Amino acid sequence: MATMGEKITVGVVGAGGYTGLELIKMLMRHPNFKLSYLATTEGGVGVEQLHPSLLNLLDIPVEKADAKEISKRCELVFLALPHKASMGLAKKLLDENVKVVDLSADYRLERETYEATYCPHEDPEHLEEAVYGLVEYYREEFRNARIVACPGCYPTATLLGILPFIPYIDSSVPLIVDAKSGVSGAGKKLSEKTHFVTIDENIFAYNPLKHRHSPEIAEKIEKIHSIEIAVNFVPHLIPATRGELVSVYAQLKEKIEPMEILKEAYGDERFIRLRESPVDVKSVAGTHFCDIFSACNGTTLFVSSAIDNLLRGAASQAVAAANLMCGLQEDLCVPDIPYMP
Ligand SMILES: NC(=O)c1ccc[n+]([C@@H]2O[C@H](COP(=O)([O-])OP(=O)(O)OC[C@H]3O[C@@H](n4cnc5c(N)ncnc54)[C@H](OP(=O)(O)O)[C@@H]3O)[C@@H](O)[C@H]2O)c1
Repeated sequence: MATMGEKITVGVVGAGGYTGLELIKMLMRHPNFKLSYLATTEGGVGVEQLHPSLLNLLDIPVEKADAKEISKRCELVFLALPHKASMGLAKKLLDENVKVVDLSADYRLERETYEATYCPHEDPEHLEEAVYGLVEYYREEFRNARIVACPGCYPTATLLGILPFIPYIDSSVPLIVDAKSGVSGAGKKLSEKTHFVTIDENIFAYNPLKHRHSPEIAEKIEKIHSIEIAVNFVPHLIPATRGELVSVYAQLKEKIEPMEILKEAYGDERFIRLRESPVDVKSVAGTHFCDIFSACNGTTLFVSSAIDNLLRGAASQAVAAANLMCGLQEDLCVPDIPYMP
């Protein structure tokens, strides 16, 4: 790591994608990180060609991703790549002693869960040492980590909302997780579902009850609370650019005061805001906040949480993790002013 006064050199691979852009915006103003390397699959362009919104703001070439070159120029690298592409590169970087913050699913899950959900794992050795990047629950482990695996966007919102209640929930009744996401959650690549004509003035469920984030939610609940509970998860696409709203329904063992439980869990957490009325996505868009509201009807529990999928669900959670991995203050360059209106 850098010595006193020196900045820590960092890079972004997958710089052309949606989360790549969010990372660049935070890192270019970071007081302790020097953004030293940007890469895409092909490279060979200027940053303003990749992101015209950054014209006159950042002068740095965009290169073809190369592990040797990264290890010469970066102490830490953010991988904003699809799963599988990420582990191919992370493996080489970790062997060269570069710290990695991975935004993909590649290092999030136990090997067995990963292989049942995604594909064969190509880097089981480093998978063992990866720390799950849900800041409020794993921050102490970030400090010595060489690799942090950022949680999925839906698991981030769902877990932050439901984890404090797990000890009070009847685990024989499956959790119902009903989630809605803006279209940027699907990444930049166009598909039939994300085509303007399909999603404009429209809303629909996708991958109901078999989305890849279900096993992630269930595995982390079990890891944190040692309680097994089935998760019935249904995501929906909504005609918004960013923002995610998650509603969880559960059966309690007995009546509780839900907001009191949330206050106890998160009273000291700067980036979790407990709201007295149902949450919304616009109030968190552009920030690292997760807003949470909860209510009960007898022993039926409702928990509602909202995040910006590109930030708390990906890039700002990654920057908070990198800050801690480098011994810095957690909230450096982590955005806290919502775009509202
Ligand atoms: N979008 C979200 O809200 C969100 C939230 C949480 C986590 N994530 C995760 O974060 C990662 C990045 O997501 P994103 O939304 O930024 O995706 P994206 O907009 O699709 O960007 C991904 C970038 O990776 C590059 N890439 C490199 N190798 C690739 C390959 N083999 N196949 C396809 N693309 C490749 C692509 O551009 P080039 O080929 O030009 O380099 C692309 O620009 C993903 O793993 C995603 O699951 C996303």
